[in-house]
Amino acid sequence: MNQDEMKQAAAEAAIQHVEDDTIVGVGTGSTVNFFIDALARIKGRIEGAVSSSQASTERMRALGIRVLDLNEAGPLPLYVDGADETNAHRQLIKGGGGALTREKIVAAASEKFVCVVDASKKVGVLGEFPLPLEVIPMARSYVAREVAKLGARPVLRSGFVTDNGNDILDLHGLSIVNPPELEERINQIVGVVCCGLFAQRPADEVIMATPDGLQVF
Ligand code: A5P
Repeated sequence: MNQDEMKQAAAEAAIQHVEDDTIVGVGTGSTVNFFIDALARIKGRIEGAVSSSQASTERMRALGIRVLDLNEAGPLPLYVDGADETNAHRQLIKGGGGALTREKIVAAASEKFVCVVDASKKVGVLGEFPLPLEVIPMARSYVAREVAKLGARPVLRSGFVTDNGNDILDLHGLSIVNPPELEERINQIVGVVCCGLFAQRPADEVIMATPDGLQVF
């Protein structure tokens, strides 16, 4: 199985969590794109979807999936999304695609968060993948100085603007031994819109595709 086949296998397994006549929260990224394709095949059974990004909205609409505003949808039973890294506790780094803020909002509004990944995403300690922060543009230098005090090497994602009109700082060089604590500290820095650590609200289930089959934890 190559990496794309693993992503597809994990994404298709998550379809089993989708219940009839519900609204599904949908994440962003290449793994979720396989989930969207699978969701399109059962679109007649669901009420619609809430999207975490412009990219996922466009893909779903092109496939005829009804996309609703979160404010009209109410609490969601299920959110399905990928991740850039996961540890054994289902704590995640997300935001490689820059959609972290809306992803965190939809995850928070959902009863169950199912994360779909291939085996390359599993790590012992989070932080090898640079941790994305969405920041208000006027605060980016201030935030960069503050996160440097935490041991990070912040790099502005140049030429990139989020769906919310903000910047992304990617934090290199972190070895995140206590993810909830770091998430809390970063959340307190003024000018940070969202931290790509999903540790205070980890995934409820990770479906990980490996060359030998699916693992669920
Ligand atoms: C998007 O902002 C990210 O949080 C994605 O969920 C993450 O980057 C995983 O993407 P892939 O499925 O493309 O690896």
